Amino acid sequence: MKLTGKAKIAGVMGWPISHTRSPRLHGYWLDKYRIDGAYVPFAVPPERIEQAIHALPALGLRGANVTVPYKETAARAVDRLDEAARRTGAVNCIVVDNDGSLEGRNTDAYGFVTHLTTSARNWRADGGPAVVIGAGGAARAIVFGLIEAGVPEIRLVNRTRDRSEVLAEAIGGPITVIDWVSRETSLDDANLLVNTTTLGMAGQPALTLDLERLPELATVADIVYTPLLTPLLAAAKARGNTIVDGLGMLLHQARPAFATWFGIDPEVDEDLRRFVMAE
Ligand code: ATR
Repeated sequence: MKLTGKAKIAGVMGWPISHTRSPRLHGYWLDKYRIDGAYVPFAVPPERIEQAIHALPALGLRGANVTVPYKETAARAVDRLDEAARRTGAVNCIVVDNDGSLEGRNTDAYGFVTHLTTSARNWRADGGPAVVIGAGGAARAIVFGLIEAGVPEIRLVNRTRDRSEVLAEAIGGPITVIDWVSRETSLDDANLLVNTTTLGMAGQPALTLDLERLPELATVADIVYTPLLTPLLAAAKARGNTIVDGLGMLLHQARPAFATWFGIDPEVDEDLRRFVMAE
């Protein structure tokens, strides 16, 4: 990569940041489209995150992604929010506008729904209820995305019920809060099941959930992508459900950000998936 003085620069802020695959992902596209630009990981400690966000225009950066644990802080630090960021209370993408002001966007909701609709072709938003497991930051984006897509009912199941209630109140719409102990009965007639927790990730316990009551035509999605085939997805696949892995959400949330910062709408394809997953 050879950068000129006109290079377009963006990056990702998080703490820790060493595990993020975003530089690999954006770096692949920068090379593929021969763009004079760079995408840099920034390890920003908690006491400096606001300072770092406000430094973006002074440094001439096009913007930055924001990842764990700063998505809510970023929503408070920017000048404007798009609709998805306002409704979810979380920003994963900051764009520096021409006048130096900061716009906070949430492209996670778009990324999840785009991946779902492109990889589970038989899934339809109006096909029935969705069961969403978890009520953290990722769940907020997914619940918002599903409601925007037209899902008629969201059954929100979280270990800590209070968090589901806060989420349901903040986002609004057809959300029913379900107790953790009732997670299996909530699968009756469901058209979609989504795990938004870290359960099933390498080094974490699996999600304990018997899928017996889930219709065979339902689609099962996981946001975990290490491993790509989580215990939940393996169990769903074995009984014939359509499965959607977690990698596509990461790839698709990056597309609109890349297009805004670097001026080309990049392609999500199998080569990219392989490249991002390879160590
Ligand atoms: P993120 O912003 O990435 O979604 P988070 O806000 O820490 O991360 O949310 C993690 C989610 O995983 C939460 O829904 C959490 O449940 P609680 O709200 O009860 O903490 C869920 N989670 C994590 N470990 C869990 C476990 N062992 N059993 C059940 N749920 C778990």
